Order: sequence, then structure tokens, then C-alpha cells
Amino acid sequence: EASAQQAAKLAAAQHALRYVEPGNVVGLGSGSTASLFIQLLGERVKQGLRIQGIASSQDSENLARSLGIPITDFTKHQVIDVAIDGADEIGPAMSLIKGGGGKLLREKIVASACKRFIIVADDTKLVAQLGAFPLPIEVIPMAVPLVDARLRDLGFTPKIRQAKDGSGNYITDEGNILLDCTSSGIVDPEETAAEIRSIIGVVEHGLFLGMAERAIIAGEDGVREVMP
Ligand code: A5P
Repeated sequence: EASAQQAAKLAAAQHALRYVEPGNVVGLGSGSTASLFIQLLGERVKQGLRIQGIASSQDSENLARSLGIPITDFTKHQVIDVAIDGADEIGPAMSLIKGGGGKLLREKIVASACKRFIIVADDTKLVAQLGAFPLPIEVIPMAVPLVDARLRDLGFTPKIRQAKDGSGNYITDEGNILLDCTSSGIVDPEETAAEIRSIIGVVEHGLFLGMAERAIIAGEDGVREVMP
């Protein structure tokens, strides 16, 4: 990955720190950009900032704990003050595709519980229409052939995600399968989301609609905020 893109991710993560206030319960996203944010947040915690984190993946929880960020959960806190997370695509009206890193289910649970859901990304993630990035859909293992057929009827070409270590199918934190679904483009994300949701066996999909209040976007010409 180009170092300019790395620098942009870091700049976006840095900018996001301004949305964290002392005493907050902070949703911790997943992926490379969110991980940079967690690292910066860990530095602030070492300097004395008092916050608690709720993680959207086992990886992020492990990272946060290693940095000394106190971790809480929904038994103690049902409301998250602010969550900072990455995205794979950011389309019109703050429509998002997430789950490129495989963590979409817990990410969406965290996003659903937040007062403020803020995206951090480099400007390569901005798109005029969603769908060039394959849409990840989390599926109950025994239902995969059925869901696959229904998704093909909808115009998707699903592919079972494979584990990076070559051990076979990728298994999510919740023990499910991910179908990465290519298409010719998602023209109406709301309609597509409703169609996918109606398929029995689908646990969750990577379309995040009406959830993010803003995106912090960084590129070669600096950092800017995009609103729906
Ligand atoms: C993880 O499942 C995703 O939703 C990430 O938020 C997304 O893939 C963005 O990751 P990067 O910040 O690594 O691009």
C-alpha cells in the first residue's frame, strides 16, 4: 500500500480524536484505519484520558487491551457515546459498504448502539455508487447454498471468503461464513438491503445506511469532513 494512503489513514484517525470526550464509552472499529485510531486513543489513555472502549471485533479488543484501554460491554453500557470505524466504500448520503475485514456483524451492532457513528478513511474510499467493492454478507453455514442461490437471483455473484492462512473458509467472530458478492453496481442501496435482509439464513450484510453522521476523509490535500 502506498505510503501516501497510509499517511491519509493516520491523518483521518488523528482528526477523529477530537470527537472523544472524557468519560465517554467509545466504540472501537476494525480494520487498518480504525486500528490507527485505537493506537492514538491508547496514547491518550496513557496520558490520563479516562474513557472505556467497546470493541467491534476480537482483533480490536486484543489491540485495545494491549494498549491499556479499559474495555466494557453491553451488560454494563447499552449506549455508546461515539464510535470510530473505517469503511470499504463511502457512497452518496453516507451509505457505506463495510466488512472487507470480515467484522461487519459486530461493527453494525456497535454502530446501532451509538449516539455518534463517525467514519475514518482515506479518499480512495469515496465512490459515486456503491458496489465496485464486493458486498460482504454473513451467512449461517448450513444455509450457504440456499442464500447463494437467492443472491444470484438478485444479480449478485457470491464467493465464499477464504481464510488468509489457507486453512479453508474464513469463519467470522460469530462462527459464520462470509459471501463476498460482486455486482454490476448497487443502484438503490435501501432496496437491496431490504431484499438481502428478507433471505432466511442471512445474519447481516455490509450495507450501513443512515448510520454514520459524518466521514473524516483524508487525502493529499489534507483532511475534510463529509456529511450525509
Ligand atoms: C472491517 O470489517 C471493515 O468494515 C473495515 O472497517 C473496512 O474494511 C475498512 O478497513 P481499512 O480501514 O483497513 O480500509
